[in-house]
Amino acid sequence: MKKLVVLTGAGISQESGIKTFRDADGLWNNYRIEDVATPDAWERDPKLVLDFYNIRRKQLYEVEPNKAHTLLAKLEDTFNVEIITQNIDDLHEKAGSTRVLHLHGELKKVRSTIDPDLVYNLAGWELNLGDLCEKGSQLRPHIVWFGEPVPNIMTATSWVQNADIFLVVGTSLNVYPAAGLLQYVPDHVPKFLVDPKATPEYYVKNLEIIRDKATTGVQKVVEMLVKMASDN
Ligand code: APR
Repeated sequence: MKKLVVLTGAGISQESGIKTFRDADGLWNNYRIEDVATPDAWERDPKLVLDFYNIRRKQLYEVEPNKAHTLLAKLEDTFNVEIITQNIDDLHEKAGSTRVLHLHGELKKVRSTIDPDLVYNLAGWELNLGDLCEKGSQLRPHIVWFGEPVPNIMTATSWVQNADIFLVVGTSLNVYPAAGLLQYVPDHVPKFLVDPKATPEYYVKNLEIIRDKATTGVQKVVEMLVKMASDN
């Protein structure tokens, strides 16, 4: 089976009702990154940071994957699908995708502040001050904050370097190193990008832009991919 590598961002979850970051109604219009998504913010006001992620985690229990997520999961019947996501929601997994690599962490997981290898699945949506790890230190969201290293970037880079087909869905490609992955896809590999506001200045070869929302744009790409698979 050919390897289809997919890079997703907040746009793929937008039609499930989860806000993106940089659209008109985006999260960063209502919060300042430096107040809720940096190690300094955590040092300065951990309760504000915990509340920010509690609100988003609570919403996760109220939303479902949309057609774009389920189409990608279904593509596993035809391709060896690997999903690299910047999203911290679990909608790819809920839709049935089996190989999902989170670059920026996972909202439903928490970790020790004294030993980063101690990662736990959080029961329920609330993480509060005084919730401690087994070694007695405060638990924090298992999220990669701005300024923190992205542990999975090397794995993601090797995934894209070995792609037969590459698909980008719903990301502004504003944040590195995630955005840089596009440059590591070999020139000869067919690339597709689904985004209603996609701009054509991505300097990569073999890129087809589908200027559409994820649920319809991914459907169009699926039809092209299935035709490619039958032609080969
Ligand atoms: N379908 C497809 N794309 C959409 C849709 C939709 N229904 N709605 C919005 N988009 C597109 C927007 O046009 C935009 O290009 O999704 C993209 C969302 O961009 P951002 O809000 O910047 O989100 P993302 O690219 O995932 O941000 C990357 O930044 O703040 C950090 O850690 C955070 O992982 C996040 C990273």
